[in-house]
Amino acid sequence: MVALPMKVLVTGGLGFIGSNFIRHLVSARPGWTIVNLDKQTYAGNPKNLAGLKVKTVKKDICDPKAVDAAMKGADYVVHFAAETHVDRSILDASAFIQTNVIGTQVLLDAALRHGVKRFLHVSTDEVYGSVATGHSVETDKLEPNSPYAASKAASDLLVRSYFVTHKAPVLTTRASNNYGPYQYPEKALPLMITNFMEDKPFPMYGDGRQVRDWLHAVDHARAILLVLEKGSLGEIYNVGGSFDCENRELISKVLSLMGKPSTLITPVEDRKGHDRRYALDCSKLLKLGFKHAYDFEKGLAETIEWYRKNEAWWRPLKVAGGYRTYLKKAYKK
Ligand code: NAD
Ligand code: DAU
Repeated sequence: MVALPMKVLVTGGLGFIGSNFIRHLVSARPGWTIVNLDKQTYAGNPKNLAGLKVKTVKKDICDPKAVDAAMKGADYVVHFAAETHVDRSILDASAFIQTNVIGTQVLLDAALRHGVKRFLHVSTDEVYGSVATGHSVETDKLEPNSPYAASKAASDLLVRSYFVTHKAPVLTTRASNNYGPYQYPEKALPLMITNFMEDKPFPMYGDGRQVRDWLHAVDHARAILLVLEKGSLGEIYNVGGSFDCENRELISKVLSLMGKPSTLITPVEDRKGHDRRYALDCSKLLKLGFKHAYDFEKGLAETIEWYRKNEAWWRPLKVAGGYRTYLKKAYKK
């Protein structure tokens, strides 16, 4: 049994999954002290933690002094902070290398200095690359195909090396595509939901036959807490969802739930290096006792409803300068 920790440092808690994790932690472990270290990039939004009593330090994980101050007294670190959008990494990989690789190294060094008991690194199924058949297991070789995936694979290897070299008390989770409330509307699912709400088209990349596995962000949060408390140090745990499908099937589901016509699907040029299929073998996580709380049909309907009820959350994001500049770059017009 792991002793009850007094303090957990979360990085990237103003983002999509980090904020869902903090919300889950506040209710599942009410006695814990949570400090959130987040630079508040375009993807970080203080509204994601509205109403929660959590201290947020607005600093960069690449800044060793800021990390030292935030990590003081921390028993656990849960590391979400990252640049996360594949399309942006294709336009410019610099911030991805800086935050995802250098930032992780700065945090690992600080964790050693501070004697942190458990450091959980949140990673992704994209490090395995595209899998035509079967399911990726944690020992599979890494074949990242996008600059984003390569930066996450580099951070996974750094984490591994700190375990072997320094006996750092690390754990890594690799999750599939997350969905749920508070996801920045550049990602496929919130983009299609919010576009369809306005009767605007959704740009479907290529033939739309790429396969993704869908995991509710709250289930991801539950899995992370389980691995944090019960996982074996130095180990990696895949965290898959409860449903996988081709993108075109997902788009049809959303259209039908929202009562919108299929004419809103606009095929566009494919993403460069677009991975065809991700699929995870999650036996290791299931052996720890994990069970999904969300079935996809329920989770998707609730997510659509959340975006319907929370226009005040997403509308300003879609008209903000940074978002428009990114879209102009992406579509060259
Ligand atoms: P997000 O883009 O919504 O949020 C990222 C957060 O990190 C933001 O709050 C941002 O301000 C912060 N951040 C970025 N750079 C920083 C820096 N240098 N210093 C401090 N804070 C910084 O991301 P997300 O989708 O919630 O993903 C969180 C983590 O989960 C990432 O590590 C990602 O690789 C991983 N992951 C995401 C998914 C997914 O489907 N979204 C799936 C598997 C794994
Ligand atoms: O698999 C886990 C990964 O899932 C995470 O590590 C990443 O941080 C996260 O962004 C996500 O990556 P994807 O590239 O799979 O997600 P995205 O929402 O960008 O795209 C999902 C699928 O939809 C993908 O096959 C590309 C396609 N797509 C996406 C967009 C934005 C479109 O067809 N049109 C679009 O406009």
